[in-house]
Amino acid sequence: MKKETPKEINEKNKKNESFLDRTLRPNCWNEYIGQENTKNNLLILLKAAKERQQQPEHLLFYGPAGLGKTTLAYLISKETGRQIKITSGPAIEKVGDLASLLTNLSPGDILFIDEIHRLNKNIEEILYPAMEAGSLDIILGKGPSARTIQLELPPFTLIAATTRVALLSSPLRSRFSGGVFRLEFYSDEEIKEIIKRSARILKVETDDETALEIAKRSRFTPRTANFLLKRCRDFAQVNKNKLDKTTVNQTLSLLGIDELGLSQLDTQLLKIIIEKFNGGPVGLNTIAAALSEEQATIEEVNEPYLIQLGLLERTPRGRAATEKAFKHLNIQYPEDKKLF
Ligand code: ADE
Repeated sequence: MKKETPKEINEKNKKNESFLDRTLRPNCWNEYIGQENTKNNLLILLKAAKERQQQPEHLLFYGPAGLGKTTLAYLISKETGRQIKITSGPAIEKVGDLASLLTNLSPGDILFIDEIHRLNKNIEEILYPAMEAGSLDIILGKGPSARTIQLELPPFTLIAATTRVALLSSPLRSRFSGGVFRLEFYSDEEIKEIIKRSARILKVETDDETALEIAKRSRFTPRTANFLLKRCRDFAQVNKNKLDKTTVNQTLSLLGIDELGLSQLDTQLLKIIIEKFNGGPVGLNTIAAALSEEQATIEEVNEPYLIQLGLLERTPRGRAATEKAFKHLNIQYPEDKKLF
């Protein structure tokens, strides 16, 4: 497959993030639901920096996809009145790409790097002096005649996001002087509130019971919740129905999502472990090959939710389906497993 250029990746990211999704983003802290611990810490940190008239320190957000890492970065930009420039690890291909991003910042800007774990190691090293001392070290020439020049950068705040914090080197992690924040899965009640807010913006009528029904199948994740709400709205509109519990059930069954919110891929993954490998443990690479899926997708999309639901376990010898997973799929739990 042809490798995409940074520009193409940026364009694609922008397109994926549709206008509709942007309108659903919270515009102020009061509208941001959940993540109380992170939110409270950020409010203090930003208020203190504002009172001192200083640049907020660098921040790292990590956690499963769709929990609102980018949303938080936008919100910080809005609430602090700072301009935000958005990029991502894979879009920064060369040292020059990052150097140009940094030198083009205006004083006070926020630079947001999504998927920072995918940043090349030699590019990462440029970030160290930039984050610590606000300077850019540029090496001119090669070999014995090479020399370094230092460019002073305007004050900026780096906000980075990752779904794979363990892949970040510890020197990089330690340079997020403002803090490293773990975003948690949302409760059903929090997701319900997010759905009700989104429904108001989309001008669809719902009630508490319907919103909760969508919430229960939303993988504890706002992005999934908003996606399901939009699909239920489409279904209701096309069939000239109200958006009620029946519509939700019909839409979700059409999408192949079960009552626990499992997608067909989640179910297949559990079935493979149970039916082909006697419930596991089995290595991730074997599961990925059997499913014809990327290991990273399984690790970042499927596993966090299955683990959170208690359907899957990560053991030193591989992945194993739990007794609850057997029950959910209506498969008899083997007697010999009960001994352990
Ligand atoms: N959209 C995405 N994340 C959200 C949150 N935490 N609160 C409200 N709307 C959201």
